[in-house]
Amino acid sequence: MSKVKTVYVCASCGARYPRWQGQCRECGEWNTISEIRVNDEPSAGRSAAARAMSGFAGASGSGVSNLNNVKLEKAQRLYTGYGEFDRVLGGGIVPGSVVLLGGNPGAGKSTLLLQTVCKLASHAAVLYITGEESLQQVALRAQRLMLPTERVRIAAETSIDEICRIAAEEKPAVLIVDSIQVMHVQGVESAPGSVSQVREGAAALTQFAKKTGIAVFLIGHVTKDGTLAGPKILEHCVDCSVILESGNDPRFRTLRCHKNRFGAVNEIGVFAMTDHGLCEVKNPSAIFLNRQETVAPGSLAMVVWEGTRPLLVELQALVDLSQLGNPRRLSLGTDPNRLAMLLSVLHRHGGCQLADQDVFVNVVGGVKVEETASDVPLILALLSSYHSKPIDRTTIAFGEVGLTGEIRPVPSGQERIAEAFKQGFKRAIVPFDNAPKKAPAGMEIIAVKRIGDLIDLV
Ligand code: TYD
Ligand code: MG
Repeated sequence: MSKVKTVYVCASCGARYPRWQGQCRECGEWNTISEIRVNDEPSAGRSAAARAMSGFAGASGSGVSNLNNVKLEKAQRLYTGYGEFDRVLGGGIVPGSVVLLGGNPGAGKSTLLLQTVCKLASHAAVLYITGEESLQQVALRAQRLMLPTERVRIAAETSIDEICRIAAEEKPAVLIVDSIQVMHVQGVESAPGSVSQVREGAAALTQFAKKTGIAVFLIGHVTKDGTLAGPKILEHCVDCSVILESGNDPRFRTLRCHKNRFGAVNEIGVFAMTDHGLCEVKNPSAIFLNRQETVAPGSLAMVVWEGTRPLLVELQALVDLSQLGNPRRLSLGTDPNRLAMLLSVLHRHGGCQLADQDVFVNVVGGVKVEETASDVPLILALLSSYHSKPIDRTTIAFGEVGLTGEIRPVPSGQERIAEAFKQGFKRAIVPFDNAPKKAPAGMEIIAVKRIGDLIDLV
């Protein structure tokens, strides 16, 4: 008989302690430590799935060799049928890979994967394991969405060992597990959804995927503090981690990649949630840039870079005389610290004093801008609002502003200009070093070097 031992594990970093404590000494997080029971001897008494955990990288014991001598098997990627989804995955599904799809409850994870398997089923064998909904519920949803379901294999199951057994029999190319939080591994004595269950379950499925070449999708719920249950624990063992999230606009969902062993991260895919399920938005610039015919002061379109493609979004600023002793600075979709910095640069190097003004900034459509290319459009929008001078609606801008008031280039300048031109923009305000030698015909390029140039423009 193996001895069952109780240990206390931090859900955030995985550190182990002999007794419970409020704060993790390793990562400093509060209330993340919970009790788990483990078997003393790793191999005895545990399930086949859990025992298989030793060695993640497939076949071990093949000895040491030169990297260039490792035989490459040409892995054919599988296409989901959704271009947006494929791009986020780095160009389709890699056989034997494990993808974690996270998101808030109700984000549409089950809907997205159900639609995907129904599309995939036309050219690949698929197996959908539902642990949360009954078979009838899934069938009803598929019927309501009018999906082709003839070739989709499905089972209701919550035991990882059973899932591995069924999948080994069915031999699908893609296996969906909805969701990892309700699954349990035999021999792990804690409730489903606990750190140890989720970790062991994901590890067993990863091992299974590597051994059989079946691509596995795991659905994982994001808990209320915004982390995937056992966040680091799950994210490091999977190949890709994608999050489905809804921004300010509840109609749209963005699929964002946080980790990808087979492609670029920070790639986004955009979907619209309709009464017929999720629909791809192939040209997101068009929806984020749904602008009125007449533009008011304080609004400007900008090009941000998301993963491997440009995205056009509208930036709005409102500058208004403050009634408070401490004027408000609020920014939605951009970094508030950056706004404070730009206001200082504007004052110090541009001579424009906004200290007695409330300043509000918003990126339309709930897009989060994480790069510095929004500096120039932000300053232009602020100036436009402050002077009540609208900026022509066919103008686009991008560029970084440095602390000494210089305008710095940003990556992929040419592609940004090309995308703006494609969307019908006629004038681009860009950093001097990003200005192309030959602009697209019909596009006016205004190259700026210093913050003073921006002030002269408005
Ligand atoms: P679901 O995929 O069940 O979410 P998750 O698995 O991430 O928890 O999606 C449920 C939400 O999607 C629900 O709030 C309603 C909405 N929805 C639609 O608006 N239209 C549809 O056609 C479907 C299927 C769902
Ligand atoms: Mg669900």
